[in-house]
Amino acid sequence: MSEIESPIDDLLMSEEQANNLTYFAFAKANQAEPLLAPTKASIGALPDVLAGRYHLERLLGAGGMGAVYRARDLLHEQFGDPDPYIALKILSEEFAESPDASALLYSEFALTRRLRHDNVLRPHTFEVDTDCQRAFITMELMRGLTLDKLLCERPQGLPWKELRDIMLPLLDALAYAHRRGVLHGDMKPSNVMLSEDGVRLFDFGLGQAEEGILPGLPHLSRERFNAWTPGYAAPELLEGQPLSASADVYGVACVIYELAGGKHHFRRLPSTQARDEHLERELQAPLNLPGHCWPALRTALSFNAADRNITAQQLRDAMGATSSWLQRLRLGA
Ligand SMILES: Nc1ncnc2c1ncn2[C@@H]1O[C@H](COP(=O)(O)OP(=O)(O)OP(=O)(O)O)[C@@H](O)[C@H]1O
Ligand SMILES: [Mg+2]
Repeated sequence: MSEIESPIDDLLMSEEQANNLTYFAFAKANQAEPLLAPTKASIGALPDVLAGRYHLERLLGAGGMGAVYRARDLLHEQFGDPDPYIALKILSEEFAESPDASALLYSEFALTRRLRHDNVLRPHTFEVDTDCQRAFITMELMRGLTLDKLLCERPQGLPWKELRDIMLPLLDALAYAHRRGVLHGDMKPSNVMLSEDGVRLFDFGLGQAEEGILPGLPHLSRERFNAWTPGYAAPELLEGQPLSASADVYGVACVIYELAGGKHHFRRLPSTQARDEHLERELQAPLNLPGHCWPALRTALSFNAADRNITAQQLRDAMGATSSWLQRLRLGA
């Protein structure tokens, strides 16, 4: 067993961070027993090398389901690859015991593989280490900052130009995924990376294919399995409705609002609570968002799915449009 376990202490969550984690609960007869953020024990001991090939080097992140490591592909290295580094996602030991867990990880892989887009993470392989009986995904190693970390560095939010440069590619990625029949299910700042190679949307662990797409994938029943990130999930998801493109639009709108103003619009309260307390009455346009973008973002943030009548592509178009005032100024110049 290796020293790779030691850096996890740095990554174990503070209470506030834990609130932003995807929350997993396996519904038992009448009671849900949550499996919360992984701990050292729940990730479990791993060998240094998985499947005889991937040398685990460093823990990159621990989420609601498991852990992501930076690893070296020894096979590629042997053939002289100058950059044999990859990222490897493996379920925590506790989670891996669930019969659905490997299917869930495979589903994440298959959904991501369906997407070929500059702003979506590139997956490599789905594999199983036969010795330790654990399934894992290998994928491109993103080097950069997730948006939650970026927000820690920029508590006032991002100025318009920077905001645009992140928001438009992110909306492009989401609109593309929806066109390909893939729903993300967990839009939040920690699932978007500002990498050396640009913006990348990742973590389709709660994603789903639209009806008729990837029909062979096991459909994980919502009765057995509930998962959500309280501050970013649309109210209808928290109330047990199925995932929809509209719920993703709500999530991405929360992310955009936070990037533009530095703060979550409802202090990361679950959307159902914010709705019941009528907090939307106090909702104001975030500081760095030009006025002409606000109506579209406000629509995307609607609690009621029927009022949220905007697609990811329409939101992208509204955010990317130049205001008519600016347009006139430019044409006149
Ligand atoms: N390919 C990658 N390259 C670099 N870092 C990564 C990569 N994938 C994930 N990470 C890091 O690991 C963290 C957890 O990854 P991911 O979101 O896929 O796991 P998760 O268990 O589903 O987490 P959560 O439940 O919190 O969403 C990310 O926030 C990111 O910091
Ligand atoms: Mg995640």
